[in-house]
This record gives sequence, C-alpha cells and structure tokens, in this order.
Amino acid sequence: MAYQNIIVETENRIGIIEINRPKKLNALNQDTIAELHQAFDQLDKDSETRAIIITGSGEKAFVAGADISEFADFGPDKGRELSLQGQQKLFDFIENLGTPVIAAINGFALGGGLELAMACHIRVASNSARMGLPEVSLGLIPGYGGTQRLPQLVGKGKAFEMIMTAGMIGSEDALKSGLVNHL
Ligand code: COA
Repeated sequence: MAYQNIIVETENRIGIIEINRPKKLNALNQDTIAELHQAFDQLDKDSETRAIIITGSGEKAFVAGADISEFADFGPDKGRELSLQGQQKLFDFIENLGTPVIAAINGFALGGGLELAMACHIRVASNSARMGLPEVSLGLIPGYGGTQRLPQLVGKGKAFEMIMTAGMIGSEDALKSGLVNHL
C-alpha cells in the first residue's frame, strides 16, 4: 500500500507506523487520519503482526496536534465531521484493536497528538518529550476524546488543570502522573 503521509514497516512481527510530516511536526491532517486508519486496520488483520508501534518522524515531534492550517475555512458542520473522523473512526478504533498498540512519544505530543497517544494501550516517551492539550488557547476543546482519556490516566484534577491552562508537561511529570508508562 502506498502512503503519502506515513511510513509502515514490519520488523520481527512488530508493525511500525511512522507519521512522516516532519516539516509540519507530524500534524494530523485529514489525509493522514485516513491513512492511519487504513494502516492500523491492515496490520491488525495480519495475524503475523503481534503488536504495533506508532511514532513520529524527526527528532522534534511525535505529533504537534491536528493540522490547524485546515481549520481556517471550517464551519460548525465541518468541525463536527472532522471530530467524528478523528475520534470515532480512528481513535476509538485504535483503542479497541485486538493488537496491542504502543505510542513511542519522541517529542511534542500536543492536542490531537496527545489524544492519539492516549488512545494507544501503552505510552513510552523520550526524556525530552513535551505533552499537553493546548486547544483552549485556540478557542477549541480537545475534541478527539482528550477530555475523557486524560482524566482516566492522570485523574480529574490534573486533567482539568492541563486542559484549562493549555500548559505542557515534561516527560518526568508525565511519568509521575501516569500519563506515560516508561521513559
Ligand atoms: N498544525 C499545522 N502545522 C503545524 C502544527 C499544527 N498543529 N504545529 C506546528 N506546525 C508547523 C508550523 O506551522 C511550522 O510550519 P512552517 O515552517 O511552514 O511555518 C512547523 O510546523 C514548525 O513549527 P514551529 O512553530 O515553527 O516550531 P517551534 O519549535 O517554534 O514550536 C510548537 C513548536 C509545537 C510549540 C508549535 O509548533 C506549536 O505550538 N504548534 C501548535 C500546537 C497546537 O496548538 N496543537 C493543537 C492543535 S488543535
């Protein structure tokens, strides 16, 4: 399968998906969301694939969020459609896959990027990773399930603070609060 925005490989029966838009810090545009859905589906259907790792290209970012350059022309209907495409079609799909999925957070995991990581079953972060849900600073809410998944992982108080302040946390804090499993 030829993809434009992701690279998919299999190594020792582990499927590896790399989001490959480093110049845009691997931001999730609509095409990337569709490609990810296809790649996860194919790897999950392959009985030889025992686990899937998802990561981002380059040294700077896992995923810096939904691609905000697509939002400029959106009205409420298009916003709702995108939210459903990301959250229900892709992130719920990942969370409910029979194959375990590990997010390898190699840099910024913001907005939809952190929401993607939180839909995975296990999260491993690099020491320099930075995580947050900055949507309120754009006049949005975390619309890909972040308002549900973050409190499940870190508790209501910390999730509330992160969402309401739009602040980022570092990897040590993420480990301590249960957002990631390992550094
Ligand atoms: N959507 C689209 N493009 C994005 C993006 C996003 N979420 N995040 C970063 N980019 C693009 C930038 O526009 C820039 O592109 P350009 O070189 O064509 O101008 C490129 O990625 C590099 O980003 P830049 O801001 O120059 O890097 P930085 O090191 O100064 O800052 C961040 C890094 C992550 C702090 C900053 O990019 C940022 O805050 N991004 C938005 C995060 C966000 O709000 N995500 C939630 C979206 S709902």
